[in-house]
Amino acid sequence: MKKTVKLIATAAMGLESLVAKEVRQLGYQEVTVENGKVIFEADHQAIARCNLWLRTADRIKLVVGEFEASTYDELFEGTKALDWETFIPEDGKFPVIGKSHKSKLFSVPDCQSIVKKAIVEKLKQRHGIANWLEETGAEYKIEVALLKDKVTLTLDTSGAGLHKRGYRIGQGDAPLKETLAAALVQLTNWRVDEPFHDLFCGSGTIPIEAALIGQNIAPGFNRSFAAEEWEFISSTIWDKALEEAEDLANYDQPLAIYGSDLDPKVVEIAKNNAIEAGLADLVSWKQMQATDFHSNKEGGYIVSNPPYGERLGDKKQVEAVYQKLGKVLKDYPTWSIYILTANEKFESLFGQKVSKKRKLFNAFIKTDYYQYFGKKPMK
Ligand SMILES: C[S@@+](CC[C@H](N)C(=O)[O-])C[C@H]1O[C@@H](n2cnc3c(N)ncnc32)[C@H](O)[C@@H]1O
Repeated sequence: MKKTVKLIATAAMGLESLVAKEVRQLGYQEVTVENGKVIFEADHQAIARCNLWLRTADRIKLVVGEFEASTYDELFEGTKALDWETFIPEDGKFPVIGKSHKSKLFSVPDCQSIVKKAIVEKLKQRHGIANWLEETGAEYKIEVALLKDKVTLTLDTSGAGLHKRGYRIGQGDAPLKETLAAALVQLTNWRVDEPFHDLFCGSGTIPIEAALIGQNIAPGFNRSFAAEEWEFISSTIWDKALEEAEDLANYDQPLAIYGSDLDPKVVEIAKNNAIEAGLADLVSWKQMQATDFHSNKEGGYIVSNPPYGERLGDKKQVEAVYQKLGKVLKDYPTWSIYILTANEKFESLFGQKVSKKRKLFNAFIKTDYYQYFGKKPMK
């Protein structure tokens, strides 16, 4: 088997550059950024390290092969020509999912079954099996993706999406994906010793992700990944990656992270999620109306995902909160404020000229990330 593999870190729309930055920070410099993905070549160790460390990527896929196909025959032969037996053992389970865009082969179910048949044939031949493949072992989820007649066949190394860190045992209304929450934190200039508040914390995703970043804790430290079960990836690779994560975590880093919410029930949920994440004493939680915010510190950060007022009847109330919040936060000129909302009137309601605005998708909702940079505090 080749020493290096081609990997794709998939990214939500708008987060590609952040994912690319994280991949480079892990030491994989040669990356190609495309819509929804970051592509790079790396050794097997990268499979474990990327799954463990990437905070903003959705999944890590391993590219088995790429070729052109505009007929089912070409799809079958191209698939069969690949070295499936080096990845999938005799008892491997290999469901096939698919997608097709701007391609002659547009029927996804047909593409999936052709790919499945081709791999079955190849594996039976190479593993010397005459009968049925039992598929009772580890899972190797395959994706056939067609784009403009180019076929990319990948194995999903992650299993559950990387946003599933394992700490969110409870959630409130409209929780953010953990990957997006980490992106919101990474898009700020927050340094880990500065005060950090989420005034609409819900189930606590933003403060928890900030604390993980603050102590340099690998976001995947408390979960497992599909590729941990794979024979061709030695278990020492995972042991080494976990050891590295343990060495790099800075559990002594003091943090000043606060999460508050109007709803006492979600504050309790946030608290329990933080305990599950192993961050029990690191984030302070409080039931509080956002507009009651008060701090005697300078140069802090507010990073929040308030309600957008999309439900009928909520709009007026939400807009009044935006307005009042703008007035309250005017008294904190050294604080930087970051608000994710789909409400297009936010800037005028908040009453301050935004320093920067960035389009982001929260699930399928088009939102803007309003960024107000604080003035440098006087020494
Ligand atoms: C979109 S949710 C936040 C979700 C959160 N980011 C998460 O990942 O779970 C908005 C939260 O704002 C809270 N909220 C609504 N109005 C508020 C107010 N005036 N002050 C404080 N919290 C408020 C709601 O209770 C809700 O939990």
